[in-house]
Amino acid sequence: MTVPVVAVTGCTGAVGGAVARLPAEAGASQRLLARAPDRAPALPGAEVRAADYADPRSCAAALAGVELLFMVSAHESADRVEQHRAFIDAAARAGVRHVVYTSFHAAGPQAEFTLARDHGATEEHLRGSGLDWTFLRDSFYLDLAPHLVGEDGVIRGPAGQGRYAPVARADVARCAAAVLQDPQAHRGRTYELTGRESLTMAEVAATIGAVTGTDVRFHDETVTEAYASRAVYGAPDWQLDAWVSTYTSIASGEQDLVSGDVRDLTGRAPLTLAELLAAGR
Ligand SMILES: NC(=O)c1ccc[n+]([C@@H]2O[C@H](COP(=O)([O-])OP(=O)(O)OC[C@H]3O[C@@H](n4cnc5c(N)ncnc54)[C@H](OP(=O)(O)O)[C@@H]3O)[C@@H](O)[C@H]2O)c1
Repeated sequence: MTVPVVAVTGCTGAVGGAVARLPAEAGASQRLLARAPDRAPALPGAEVRAADYADPRSCAAALAGVELLFMVSAHESADRVEQHRAFIDAAARAGVRHVVYTSFHAAGPQAEFTLARDHGATEEHLRGSGLDWTFLRDSFYLDLAPHLVGEDGVIRGPAGQGRYAPVARADVARCAAAVLQDPQAHRGRTYELTGRESLTMAEVAATIGAVTGTDVRFHDETVTEAYASRAVYGAPDWQLDAWVSTYTSIASGEQDLVSGDVRDLTGRAPLTLAELLAAGR
């Protein structure tokens, strides 16, 4: 088998797995990088290598011969940015030329959503790496909206009347596949991947309730209430900050953007919440 020049990370997860399936269906070869290769999907034309961002030696071997790399952001952790930097450095040393990175809307040090600061630091590292880059700045995943609903049918958080335009992971995957197909056209480009409607949390609750036939409502917590209601999980401070700032970033207006980038990249309108929920029923 000839060595594939495209590598896809995160293939055991939702976004990376969906990205990997698209070229496989089109008959293209690729290399799948996985922390646990035995959990990688078995796809035609794909070879699998072990790679953990936290272990640059495994990454160096896995990236040998790769020119184009789809990099899924790692699971949230206190040292995620260090892991990302180590992986990017390993990619540069291995001879990778172009990284397509799943970033986040409003990425940067001033972001209200604390995890978007990680993405900003990762983007900054890529900009200084000498590698070509493309940033896919995702909004919050639409698929996760139903998971915001507590067992009592209430979405709780300090989002106020703020709006956000969550994007389906399937749309993110289609955008990534389009970029990977024609990387030269997307060098140095930043795309805002959003849904096609900007929603308040009350509207999200109403839509979920209407589609599922259940009573779902939104309770606008204060920030103090939000930390208190999440204290029961015993999570570290950075995690609590991330959970709460998901909502305060929506309240701040930071997430209120509907972009045409999904349509421009894929030729189709992004999914709405109602469409996604209906498709999953
Ligand atoms: N926009 C949003 O609303 C949102 C929400 C949640 C997460 N995210 C971010 O978006 C990413 C992709 O989302 P998803 O839904 O596809 O998540 P997912 O289903 O949890 O998949 C994450 C993938 O990344 C891999 N991974 C995680 N940490 C890694 C590391 N240190 N080194 C190498 N591989 C690593 C995982 O491998 P394993 O199977 O070995 O764990 C998995 O394949 C997430 O990892 C997270 O950073 C965004």
